[in-house]
Amino acid sequence: MILRRERVELKTPAQIRAMRASGLVTARALAAVREALTPGAVARDVDALAESVIRDAGARPNFLGYDGYPASICLSINDVVVHGIPQGQVLREGDVVSVDCGAVLDGWHSDAAVTVCVGEAQAHAEALVEVTRRALWDGVAAFASAARVGEIGAAVEASVRQAAPSFGVIRDYGGHGIGTAMHMDPDVLNYAARERGPRVRPGMVLAIEPMVVEREIAASVDTDGWTVRTVDGGLAAHWEHTVARTAAGVWVLTAEDGGATELAERGVVVAPL
Ligand code: MF3
Ligand code: CO
Repeated sequence: MILRRERVELKTPAQIRAMRASGLVTARALAAVREALTPGAVARDVDALAESVIRDAGARPNFLGYDGYPASICLSINDVVVHGIPQGQVLREGDVVSVDCGAVLDGWHSDAAVTVCVGEAQAHAEALVEVTRRALWDGVAAFASAARVGEIGAAVEASVRQAAPSFGVIRDYGGHGIGTAMHMDPDVLNYAARERGPRVRPGMVLAIEPMVVEREIAASVDTDGWTVRTVDGGLAAHWEHTVARTAAGVWVLTAEDGGATELAERGVVVAPL
């Protein structure tokens, strides 16, 4: 048996409260962005809007400059799975647009993503978005009572498989620990694996972020070094929240209500700080 040292940053309740402040900035930026995702909107204007909301709150966009990333948000349209760079793309009615956004406030990082259909979209596109959103919340619900981090991915995968057996869950990208940096240990897979993952402990904060595609999960990176697309051209959706596990349960730091509404539907009572 291989013993592996777990290097997971555990936060105190006061530190989680500081992360909540960061999470609410990210939530506010995403709420503003959602309103702006209308036909004719230009991606770089959406990026500027997110950046201004984040800076007005006294925070900084943590994506900007990360590994040389050139924008404040990722904006991933249709067959783009993640890490699309907002530039001159013009949104059209029916597009499936995921927006990934993060902030750092007082040294504490938050990270969240939503996927929306621009105007009226085809039924299969709406279904993909909703199945992915539910998979995120099923993963968050699993985190509330999980003994091991691996239970989150098992719940995400089961959620998608049950809702839409023909959809695929992306395996090449996943969630992560978050805190004094955006990407920290542990990895948070979106599928069941033999490894059960590290033990879940009070003070653990994770970014849970399922990416789901209509068909084949094969994806490739564009020559820009960032944009990840499905190889078969199928649509992709991505939802993400930054979630704290405390001694009392979970609290979703990037959700206005801490996740109360969605988790209540799953029989989980949230644990405000
Ligand atoms: N939520 C994204 C992730 O965890 C954040 C990407 S930041 C970027 O992969 F700078 F790399 F775009
Ligand atoms: Co993330």
